[in-house]
Amino acid sequence: MIRLGVNIDHVATLRNARGESYPDPVEAAQYAIRGGADGITAHLREDRRHIRDEDIRRLRKLSVPLNFEMAATEEMVAIACEVEPHACCLVPEKREELTTEGGLNIHELQSDLRPKIERLKKAGIRVSLFIDPDPVQIETAHALGAPVIELHTGAYAQGRNGELERLQKAAILAQKRGLEVHAGHGLTYDNVGSIKNLKGLAELNIGHFLICQALFTGLEASVRHMKELLE
Ligand code: PXP
Repeated sequence: MIRLGVNIDHVATLRNARGESYPDPVEAAQYAIRGGADGITAHLREDRRHIRDEDIRRLRKLSVPLNFEMAATEEMVAIACEVEPHACCLVPEKREELTTEGGLNIHELQSDLRPKIERLKKAGIRVSLFIDPDPVQIETAHALGAPVIELHTGAYAQGRNGELERLQKAAILAQKRGLEVHAGHGLTYDNVGSIKNLKGLAELNIGHFLICQALFTGLEASVRHMKELLE
């Protein structure tokens, strides 16, 4: 069974839009867990536009694993080593972007990433690298000693030609190299069907769509339906 990590960042986006204390992302996480979420994912951005430091510390106390998405910076590595989430997913981050556009170019960043990955691993954190479905990036993830990759499904979700085949080839190569394969970005009820059949897929991380769907059905139900689609 593929694990579902629910990203609750956009509950915090809504909270911060009015500078209020509600809706609380930790309460949202509890609804997601009731709906069957196997883990909670949250991205502490450098500009703190949605999730805040205190949210991360509170999310860490939940009953399911916390997947802490973060830029590969000294500041974030220090926070991760202090909070000790179950997992860290290293993502690219640009201040002006609306969301994480494309995977982290780990091939280019190897020398900077290597010591950071080592520190996170030493702290007992499962490290994952958010990358495009590109063989060079996968070979690099393997060489860097990261146990997990998360394949960026954004281009697939936008309907780019040949993207599903790229994802399939990438997942097969990653599995051959002994990497655990995760995927995420832009996934919905309509497009998750082909993704769930990717070779060796262990986990999906889905956020924006589930939070949007929750406006109509509630978060517990939106998560529960996604879980049913993954069965
Ligand atoms: N996985 C990673 C690494 C991400 O950065 C994001 C977006 O924050 C997601 C999954 C979830 O993407 P979406 O919100 O489009 O479902």
